[in-house]
Amino acid sequence: MSKNIDWSNLGFGYIKTENRFVSNYKDGAWDEGAITTDDMVVISECAGVLQYAQTCFEGLKAYRTEDGKVVCFRPDLNASRMVDSCERLEMPTFPEDKFVEAVEKVVQANLDYVPPYGSGATLYIRPYMFGSNPVIGVKPADEYQFRIFVTPVGPYFKGGAKPITIRVSDFDRAAPHGSGHIKAGLNYAMSLHAIVDAHNKGYAENLYLDPATRTKVEETGGANFIFITKDGKLVTPKSDSILPSITRRSLMYVAEHYLGMEVEHREVYLDELKDFAECGLCGTAAVISPVGKIDDHGTEICFPSGMEEMGPVTKKLYDTLTGIQMGRIEAPEGWIKVIAE
Ligand code: PLP
Ligand code: COI
Repeated sequence: MSKNIDWSNLGFGYIKTENRFVSNYKDGAWDEGAITTDDMVVISECAGVLQYAQTCFEGLKAYRTEDGKVVCFRPDLNASRMVDSCERLEMPTFPEDKFVEAVEKVVQANLDYVPPYGSGATLYIRPYMFGSNPVIGVKPADEYQFRIFVTPVGPYFKGGAKPITIRVSDFDRAAPHGSGHIKAGLNYAMSLHAIVDAHNKGYAENLYLDPATRTKVEETGGANFIFITKDGKLVTPKSDSILPSITRRSLMYVAEHYLGMEVEHREVYLDELKDFAECGLCGTAAVISPVGKIDDHGTEICFPSGMEEMGPVTKKLYDTLTGIQMGRIEAPEGWIKVIAE
């Protein structure tokens, strides 16, 4: 029985659900972990996460398919990306098989919150980990908590599939040889001033440039870029300081193997953006959000696909990806994890 929620009008916000998963790391080992109804976290005032931001997270979604199953999309890739984040932040890794099991358990424990098929909403799953014991000298914590909560969500950007306007940011998101390639909370803290400033000026997001030369396109605060060339190729930026988006990696595969498109994963220069036909932001939260216009310090880059709707190639990618996620199109082997029949 689904909860009485107005699924079709949900934004991207937090709604407390009944159950979450919690596991604690102490004396060098993770405990078994368990589902709990307690949504409160009580930790020391001097916890590593509070003093030195020792925390990382993941994001994935559960979907209700056309035939009524509940599935999630490539959770093994989130598990392995979280291992990369933990290693870079000197945190203990959470075993990848246990991560996927925990995702399954927490979705099963909140099935009533999985939005109905066709409602436009999905269940966002947020795994995260933080240093929980007191740390005052700059060093990693000894104790950690791993948690997963879920929350039903609608579109990340207001207006859903309407193209957005973004701007080239003067702030950098990540340093060269820094932490841009992992999902560390600190990267998002760094982006808060830039996003508030962008919103105040009427932009939906920031386009961050490569911090070393400021000539190449990296990503936005919460999504990777895809571009479509006038002759129908998919081009997506390659850089050591952007987050390896699971959505982007999936779209590269879908473009090549489902749609027969050529795919280029390469450095993308700011001054070539004007030549692309379509532009989109891709990620778990963003899905594919079309970009109609990029403001580069007063010079507007307007994509031919316009401000009214998604470009035609972006739309094909969107329909194929969401078709796979919602069970309308057969998925590549191993992409879909069935959680409830
Ligand atoms: N880039 C950033 C900075 C993100 O926060 C996200 C969101 O997870 C993405 C890209 C998209 O990654 P994914 O497709 O794995 O959700
Ligand atoms: C996600 O897409 O899962 C993210 O973590 C992006 C965040 C900006 C909500």
